[in-house]
Amino acid sequence: MKQLAAASLPTPTPCVSVLNQKGIALQATVPAGLDRKEAEIYRQLDPARLPKHIAIIMDGNGRWARRRHMPRIAGHRAGVAAVRSTVETAARIHIPALTLYAFSEENWKKRPKSEVDFLMRLLSRYLKGEVPTLNQNNIRLEYIGRQQELPEAVQERMASAREATAHNTGMVLTLALNYSARTELVDAFRSLAQAAARNGGIDHLINVDEEAVCQHLYTRHLPDPDLVVRTSGEMRLSNFLLWQLAYAEIYVTPTLWPDFRGHHLLDGIAEYQKRERRYGGLNEEHMNHHVAKAARG
Ligand code: FPP
Repeated sequence: MKQLAAASLPTPTPCVSVLNQKGIALQATVPAGLDRKEAEIYRQLDPARLPKHIAIIMDGNGRWARRRHMPRIAGHRAGVAAVRSTVETAARIHIPALTLYAFSEENWKKRPKSEVDFLMRLLSRYLKGEVPTLNQNNIRLEYIGRQQELPEAVQERMASAREATAHNTGMVLTLALNYSARTELVDAFRSLAQAAARNGGIDHLINVDEEAVCQHLYTRHLPDPDLVVRTSGEMRLSNFLLWQLAYAEIYVTPTLWPDFRGHHLLDGIAEYQKRERRYGGLNEEHMNHHVAKAARG
């Protein structure tokens, strides 16, 4: 299992501390900035067991627009408010990493040029307008996907937004842009082969292990996601982080992406905390039973 790289982990920031009537500091419970609905859900969570990395497949923009007899692009435009709310809430509760599947490689090939052009403009506007908010929330921006295939102007925007947030030490927000998990694996194999050519040839390749593969993925700056959220009810991974999601808990909500807000994210985390993660092993009760049985001979 890929472990958290110490260098990529943000430093935790303290929650609001609350004083009771006698002025004695109470254990802080709700982080600053959550609205009433979010605070209500957050109080049910165990802050010690928050996911370290949440990945989201944002889906349902088109259906959201269709239900309102609006063009598809109206759904994408409305999706930006959902991005904003989700990112801010995740940062406020100190989730170390959030990855959003914004545009898949397939999106370029299978959608009309006018929609793709609109998505590009929307992304550019978001990257330009959002930097102050990202900085206020101590969020560092990263990307995964074949950036070199995106329009040059967009690449420049991406680079300057990344640079402008590079000093932040809080949540890492990774946007998957022109991303495909299979392409990522192809790129990782190519990168491993190039490393082998520079360093030991075939012997280098023979000794490849999971950690080496992780180091050649686009996500080498991130721990594997603990939780993957998909909106709009579809039960698919759609070529998203196929290697990294091996042990992730999957949470599918019927909410369409433009309607998704911070409190929906907290609902997903609450559901995640109810699950028992076994990584292919046994739960504690079964384990104790086997240990006791072995001790009895
Ligand atoms: C899926 O909905 C969504 C997308 C392909 C684009 C995601 C873009 C945004 C949420 C807005 C901009 C993002 C950023 C980061 C600024 P769909 O069109 O496939 O919906 P459908 O399945 O209902 O047709």
